[in-house]
Amino acid sequence: MKQQLTIALTKGRILKETLPLLNSAGLSPVEDIGSSRKLLFATERADIRLVILRGSDVPTYVRHGAADLGIVGKDMLLEYGAEGLYEPLDLGIARCRLMTAGFEGRPPIQGRIRVASKFVQIAQRHYAGRGIQAEIIKLYGAMELAPLMNLADEIVDIVDTGNTLRANGMMPLQHIADISTRLIVNKAAMRTRHGSIEDVIAAMARAIETRVAP
Ligand code: PRP
Repeated sequence: MKQQLTIALTKGRILKETLPLLNSAGLSPVEDIGSSRKLLFATERADIRLVILRGSDVPTYVRHGAADLGIVGKDMLLEYGAEGLYEPLDLGIARCRLMTAGFEGRPPIQGRIRVASKFVQIAQRHYAGRGIQAEIIKLYGAMELAPLMNLADEIVDIVDTGNTLRANGMMPLQHIADISTRLIVNKAAMRTRHGSIEDVIAAMARAIETRVAP
């Protein structure tokens, strides 16, 4: 058997939207990922397997070559860096925006603004780029709570419908980046295993083109 290619997938909402594309690309897992506690899955192609990771770990696995390809949100690439990676395809799924957010009509902040986020690097770059002194406070979830609890003045977070912000009395402020899910490839693997990786990219590109709009 040819040496296997490994594709790292992001669990959660991205995985749900990725599975129909994998099916249409002929890369379906042979068992139900949703109902299994396993993390490594064979696919209908003997030369390709899938590994299920947290989004923040996908760039790391692909950068180090532990996985050859990955499917991950652009937010993770902006936060954890894209060096050592190619980004040949935008899958156009899990679209959202990275925004700053806070309370409407809040009085101007004296001194350093306190910003809570799990996107520490993105937040640092954003405020530095605008010449604003910011103290970035790392959180791992429920960022919306931070201004409500006076832990922070603003947050940097993903906004999709805006419902979460509204429900907590906040609003999106500045747009940082448009986000969607990307296919990434380890640069060294792209050289050494060019043919099989190009096959996967082409199959995913066809799956994107032929997908039925939700
Ligand atoms: C994201 C984000 C917001 C919410 C925004 O969280 O952190 O909480 O979605 O969506 P909305 O604008 O449609 O309300 P997610 O559900 O992805 O969970 P997470 O906190 O684990 O990232």
